[in-house]
Amino acid sequence: PTQFIVLSQQIHFRALPLSGHVGLDALPDQLVNKSLGQGFCFNLLCVGETGIGKSTLMNTLFSTDFENLESPHFEPRGKLRARTYGLRENGVQLKLTIVSTIGFGDQMNQQDSYQPIVDYVDAQFESFLQEELKIKRSLHNYHDSRVHVCLYFIAPSGHSLKSLDLVTMKKLDRKVNVIPVIAKSDTISRAELHSFKMKIMSELVSSGVQIYQFPTDDETVAGINGVMNGHLPFAVVGSTEAINVGNKLVRGRQYPWGVVQVENGSHCDFVKLREMLISVNMNDLREQTHARHYELYRRCRLQEMGFRDTEPNRKPASLHQTYTARRQEYLREFHGVEEEMKQMFVQKVKRTEAELKDAEEELQFRFERMKRLHQQEKKRLEEKRRILEEDMNSFNKMRAAVELLQAPSFSTAGKK
Ligand code: GTP
Repeated sequence: PTQFIVLSQQIHFRALPLSGHVGLDALPDQLVNKSLGQGFCFNLLCVGETGIGKSTLMNTLFSTDFENLESPHFEPRGKLRARTYGLRENGVQLKLTIVSTIGFGDQMNQQDSYQPIVDYVDAQFESFLQEELKIKRSLHNYHDSRVHVCLYFIAPSGHSLKSLDLVTMKKLDRKVNVIPVIAKSDTISRAELHSFKMKIMSELVSSGVQIYQFPTDDETVAGINGVMNGHLPFAVVGSTEAINVGNKLVRGRQYPWGVVQVENGSHCDFVKLREMLISVNMNDLREQTHARHYELYRRCRLQEMGFRDTEPNRKPASLHQTYTARRQEYLREFHGVEEEMKQMFVQKVKRTEAELKDAEEELQFRFERMKRLHQQEKKRLEEKRRILEEDMNSFNKMRAAVELLQAPSFSTAGKK
């Protein structure tokens, strides 16, 4: 086989001018065409209490009817419902998965509400990791179900966040991009909304919850994203009802005193959310999911499996070495546990033997005592019997004597 000799590890980089058209400028088009052909995939998780407006907001965001059923309030443990849909707009295909909580916040125990969500997010990472670790991977046609964004629906109380909100967001913030939204914001006054937003943000900061920040490192979107970060959490209103306002059909909610227009920026932040989530940052959400959240999950899991990165001056360990080392460690652990179990078994047998011996001694003692009692009783009865027999003997003697006395007088009487 050919041997390559590496002369220098250092890579020399020089920028060179081109003297004619080569075609490098078509590379972005190639990328776009490939992506268009493959289609896009986006997975959205809606977390919020029952009836807070999750389905309505999804229908409003994607201008369609996802046909949702009302959830009951009696789930013993929170659940999740995942549905995947195919959407198409101007030749662009989107495979959209909407995962929604069922019964979130209806349980007495907070853990019963957030744990199923954490488990779901982890399970999607795990199945991607398992696909990656396969020898024959098929990542190109693998349905990537990792959650790209979590819309966290905050109840429009105007007061403060509930402890369940803080706990759940804290549990999720290192696993998924969390965007908090104030649901049904048409039920809260403008002044209250302003102070509510400030309160929420300060509570999130003081609890150390890291919500998703729209990225400001790409200069084409840095301006808009920077401004929008200042509007978080978005106050949203959902409705698919078309209402006539000034000879124009708009989506909104009709009240006796007027119409709340969903797409009117002075009525709510719905358009801001849609712009940020879909038009501007959908790709960043996907990238962050892979590069930050999945990376963290993968690192922890591989460390758990016994993989270690090599230090700069050490020879890299082969997969076989890692496997062998891990196997030996496992066998050591296994033998340790086996030895411990043997010891426990021996102890248990000894304890049982001692208990049996005690029980036997107790039985023997009781037996001896009963035997003694029995013998005493027997003796007593024999003594009684002896006395009885003596009584009977003396009685018999007396009777015989009486019979003897009576016998001659009878015979004398007969002779007369
Ligand atoms: P479950 O899936 O059953 O937990 O409910 P959900 O969170 O999906 O709520 P859904 O969208 O079904 O809305 C529940 C009720 O709230 C419906 O009567 C909606 O019309 C109403 N609703 C939804 N969004 C808004 C909103 O922005 N403002 C107001 N005022 N009502 C809303």
